[in-house]
Amino acid sequence: MAIRVLTTRKELPGSGLSRLAEGTDVVSWPGAAKPGPDDLAALAPGSAGLLALGSDPVDAALMAAAGPSLRVIALASMGFDNVDRAAAAERGIVVTHTPGVLAETTADLTFALILAARRRLGAAAASLERGGWDVFRMHDYLGLDVHGATLGLVGYGQIGRAVARRAQGFGMRVVHHDPYAAADDSLSTSVSLETLLAEADVVSLHVPLTAETRHLISRRELAAMKPTATLVSTSRGGVVDEEALLGAVRAGVVHSAGLDVYEREPMGAELSPLVDEPYVVTLPHIGSATDSTRAAMVDLAVDNILDVLAGHPARTPLPG
Ligand code: DGY
Repeated sequence: MAIRVLTTRKELPGSGLSRLAEGTDVVSWPGAAKPGPDDLAALAPGSAGLLALGSDPVDAALMAAAGPSLRVIALASMGFDNVDRAAAAERGIVVTHTPGVLAETTADLTFALILAARRRLGAAAASLERGGWDVFRMHDYLGLDVHGATLGLVGYGQIGRAVARRAQGFGMRVVHHDPYAAADDSLSTSVSLETLLAEADVVSLHVPLTAETRHLISRRELAAMKPTATLVSTSRGGVVDEEALLGAVRAGVVHSAGLDVYEREPMGAELSPLVDEPYVVTLPHIGSATDSTRAAMVDLAVDNILDVLAGHPARTPLPG
């Protein structure tokens, strides 16, 4: 009997899913919408592998529903805050994610947000679309320069470094704060969080969401930033206290923000008030959304499943 692997979506970019189906018995959540916990639990019994997205909650109840056959949970995402790691460890389940393959694409989008927020691209484009470009005024659509500015990277892993490389082309000075990557290198100088917040014109977040990083940027940190600074986040919504950010942009404590991630995702029709803020650029979590990167993420997740099920070590297990 073929080994059963549950996937939380029936369609995924690239050819990974068909490759998975060649060697295993793939069972997929058939709906178009995101499955609820009961939907997945009903399909889980007897599964040896689970392929999930970073937005699918993978909790102890789902692992229990799968039963003792479950050996590997492969996320097609870099972030892993959706998985109950302790429950997986207790059951001896290997959990994997997809670092590496999405770093450059996410860094591209980070730079798009930096440019869009500081140069007010969303507000300018919306004004043109509304017919508001009636005359050329010297003071319209004024933003802040990106070239020559200081970039502060909170988190200096693969994505942070990829953003630092792009910043060289803009003649930016780069500093970073990362207790796990505290050394200076040719791209960036390591500083305390306090120094970074005080000196950076752009503060860009590249840390995973953990108990340690939840609301890392809150009222106090925003107040420590320059009034001309921009906060950018392509990591996880929970790293920023959104209520504090909303208050800070409204009060001019910081200049602007560029966000791809939120405390509540997806938003549906119930929009966060940040979406309507003129100095905040908001995107619907598209950091890794290119054809080739999303296909590579699925491919790596599938490789991880096939390797573990074949008795080999996973290629990209979660960091310890
Ligand atoms: C990631 O890979 O973590 C992206 O945010 C998509 O979940």
